[in-house]
Amino acid sequence: MPARASRLDKTPPYLFGEIAKLKAKALAEGRDLIDFGIGDPDQPTPRDIIDKLYEAAQDPATHRYDETPYGEPFFLQAVAEWYRRRYGVSVEPDGEILLLIGSKEGLAHLAWAYIEPGDLALVPDPAYTVYAINTRMAGGETYTMPLRRENGFLPDLSAIPSEVARRAKLLFLNYPNNPTGAVATQQFYREAVQFAHEYDILLVNDAAYSEVVYEGYRHPSLLQIEGAKEVAIEFNSLSKMFNMTGWRIGFAAGNRDAIANLNKMKSYVDSKQFAAVSRAGAYALLYADNTRTLNLYQKRRDILVEGLQSIGWEVHKPKATFYVWVPTPGGTSSIDFAKQLLERAGILAIPGIGYGEHGEGYVRFSITVSGDHHGERVEEAVRRIREHFG
Ligand SMILES: Cc1ncc(COP(=O)(O)O)c(C=O)c1O
Repeated sequence: MPARASRLDKTPPYLFGEIAKLKAKALAEGRDLIDFGIGDPDQPTPRDIIDKLYEAAQDPATHRYDETPYGEPFFLQAVAEWYRRRYGVSVEPDGEILLLIGSKEGLAHLAWAYIEPGDLALVPDPAYTVYAINTRMAGGETYTMPLRRENGFLPDLSAIPSEVARRAKLLFLNYPNNPTGAVATQQFYREAVQFAHEYDILLVNDAAYSEVVYEGYRHPSLLQIEGAKEVAIEFNSLSKMFNMTGWRIGFAAGNRDAIANLNKMKSYVDSKQFAAVSRAGAYALLYADNTRTLNLYQKRRDILVEGLQSIGWEVHKPKATFYVWVPTPGGTSSIDFAKQLLERAGILAIPGIGYGEHGEGYVRFSITVSGDHHGERVEEAVRRIREHFG
């Protein structure tokens, strides 16, 4: 067998291996595990979206390659309408919006479309690993922007040396944020747009969690900022919006050149999404409602955060996302604490170090807990944590 490409060695060691082994062991022993691990909605896709898929799949026109330039026009129009209603932002279906097979592939392929050996991308830490890994696999280098609690988990752009900023081609942001649950302000987005203009950088906002919000909170879009479309592209996804992670549908919107370059890259890699999924996705953006799921997340969030606060842990309620970012008690390392949670209390959470060195000292709880119908499993988790760690 020939050797694999060395770019595959630019991925980090599999940090979750040990936790995965402990999880398998706990399950094999028949232990009652409460799983706050993977960030994947446990609730089903709303029924009317599934019905729409069924209806669209009956139409043979959906069975062939989607040969449109940027995705089925009804999907692109639904995205344009969604941006207009949701944010008052105008994006054109003919060249400012691109259909994606989930936002992950879009983010990954954007790095491949822009990064050459020696190029630089500015990436947050802790973060979803896709930004840094694809930059490195494409031969590029990354410059870390630490996300610190005292700065609201926003990067300090003024701390980036100007010679670094001048070299950078891409700047990745992700708000609402995985794993910290932090949100961005319009003021921060304005600074980011200004920074991108000043240093001629393509600003990339991953907004996969834009609709996972609580108590009427509305997260801004980067594209609401004046001048953003000249320097920015925003990624969104139906995965977390409507519990559709398995359907694989998302979109990018913003700067025309960035959309065209990403599309060119993708046209040699994939052949777009099943058109029936695009039709159901368009329906979802225009008409569907996921409030029931959000209310359940909110209930779980409140039980978990208030429960941990009641034993003296310094945990904040996120306004958005389904992640609760919990500092480890007494300076325990994130891996050790995740192991203790699993071994002592049968609770699975993800060690923060898995999201980068600045994630050390935290564990991430995803409140997408399977088998929890109205907060009872989360209550049980709080009871166990109080018993073993309180
Ligand atoms: C921050 C972030 N961005 C993007 C994604 C990818 O979502 P999808 O590819 O399902 O749209 C995820 C998935 O967990 C995520 O956490």
